[in-house]
Amino acid sequence: MTRRSKPATVQVLRTLSAMRTWTARARGKGETVALVPTMGALHAGHLALVRLAKRRADRVIVSIFVNPAQFAPNEDFSSYPRTWDADAAALSELSVDAIWAPSVATMYPDGFATKLVPGGPALAGLEDKFRPHFFGGVCTVVAKLLLQVAPDFATFGEKDYQQLKVVTAMARDLDIPTKIVGLPTVREKDGLAMSSRNAYLSANERAAAPTLHRVLKQCAAGLKAGQSLAATLDEGTAQIESVGFAVDYLEARHAETLAKIATLADGPARLLVAAKLGRTRLIDNIGV
Ligand code: PAJ
Repeated sequence: MTRRSKPATVQVLRTLSAMRTWTARARGKGETVALVPTMGALHAGHLALVRLAKRRADRVIVSIFVNPAQFAPNEDFSSYPRTWDADAAALSELSVDAIWAPSVATMYPDGFATKLVPGGPALAGLEDKFRPHFFGGVCTVVAKLLLQVAPDFATFGEKDYQQLKVVTAMARDLDIPTKIVGLPTVREKDGLAMSSRNAYLSANERAAAPTLHRVLKQCAAGLKAGQSLAATLDEGTAQIESVGFAVDYLEARHAETLAKIATLADGPARLLVAAKLGRTRLIDNIGV
């Protein structure tokens, strides 16, 4: 039996100059670089993004930055889970090359005054309707991350489907020469999409939470069997509400443009849901 050698400790970069020295060294050696943007509290979904990044590029840098610009004042910025030691250990275990961990003052120094205003998929009437500040904050920080690191690839999860479409459009529209690569949602055994916010769920809520994915699958099957869109989504909403969720939306949209669709023939279709269980807001989506 071979003993596993202890993974090297991942390099932590906290200043722009340290990060630029690191990327310049990689580029000087002709190595490709992939960036995995995260807000930390890493779970198996994030780690799958890291593995995807490792398959695509010679060097992988993971950013950990809880971005205040994408939280509204009434949201969970201050209570968002911060698990630095476990995150660094998990990334070392995967032999990630570096963590880019800027402070808020490094990312948004005094006098910072420029924000992106995304349109297109950022105005689809899904997450943007309930979190109007969100995609402006996401685009501003992701644009900064892509310009800071200048990676060849950046990986994003389909778990945040609208975000993936918004970031892809933003990189295209701003001619940022990074390829945005999407990854299917990683789920718990019972179907619940992995999320840092699942940590907020009580035991009872955790038991009810897989209903979201179960209903999405049921709706997709019903639609494929020819059921009408409106009746399927009404019935799905009722089922999700019956286990205690307050539903923000359950919708079928065009999988690429996120435009509203009337029937499956207007597709390819994607079902997207957002709902609150107690104080925890969960989102999920699947293809039809
Ligand atoms: P965060 O919620 O930490 O997610 C980081 C990345 O992990 C995102 O691309 C997200 O879609 C992906 N991800 C989360 N859960 C996943 C799952 N179960 N399966 C697959 N991928 C999953 O999303 C953000 O941070 C922020 O908005 C960020 C893009 C970092 C900008 O601040």
